[in-house]
Amino acid sequence: MLSLKNIYYHPSTAEKPILRNLCLKTKTGKITIIRGPSGSGKTTLVEVISGLSGYQRGEITWFNKTLNARQRRWLCGLVFQFPERYFLGLSVAQELRLGHKKLTTGEQISTLQKVGLINLDLKKAPHSLSGGQQRRLAIAVQLLRSPKVLLLDEPTAGLDWSVRNGVIELLERLKDKQTILIVTHEPELFKNLNTENYQLQDGQLVPY
Ligand SMILES: Nc1ncnc2c1ncn2[C@@H]1O[C@H](COP(=O)(O)OP(=O)(O)OP(=O)(O)O)[C@@H](O)[C@H]1O
Ligand SMILES: [Mg+2]
Repeated sequence: MLSLKNIYYHPSTAEKPILRNLCLKTKTGKITIIRGPSGSGKTTLVEVISGLSGYQRGEITWFNKTLNARQRRWLCGLVFQFPERYFLGLSVAQELRLGHKKLTTGEQISTLQKVGLINLDLKKAPHSLSGGQQRRLAIAVQLLRSPKVLLLDEPTAGLDWSVRNGVIELLERLKDKQTILIVTHEPELFKNLNTENYQLQDGQLVPY
């Protein structure tokens, strides 16, 4: 169980605090959905949880053990709001093999299948894929790391409905093995899943 206690974060470059004594406890088997208007701090929150950003006060624990930023980077896999900005590989195969040098072609194909990318040319450049394919490739890259906590920043934004449904079904399948937290402008898309819903407002989470 992931727990955030009184997380306070005020970057020196920001006019006011972004997270103000924010608390959260994830529930086993439930997907945590966080909504909030643009600029409310959703991306900042997942960056803090995943150890990419620090915070000034509070505590983040995993099954009651306090974690530092490095431990959180191990624990969490973050699928960015615009994953295409972070691809490093020159091909899909190379992208999947970053950090997994020995990944065989068969393993690459089966990983892609898990996210619904079937018959994808492994030699294609990640940047040449469609938005939906890029989103799913980014999820596949994180799945290879088997993170205990999977954080997704706007996983359905800009996808057409069939691709969206594919992503939602995938998350539904993953939720029993992984703690999943989603920040989204489109929380209604997840209404058929077993979710716990919050709104991020004034730097805090309120049940929705
Ligand atoms: N390091 C930083 N320094 C200064 N301001 C920051 C920093 N990080 C975030 N902010 C500000 O904090 C606020 C929250 O940004 P954030 O990107 O987390 O919002 P968001 O809810 O993800 O928005 P969107 O829905 O548009 O993606 C914004 O006003 C942003 O400009
Ligand atoms: Mg954002």
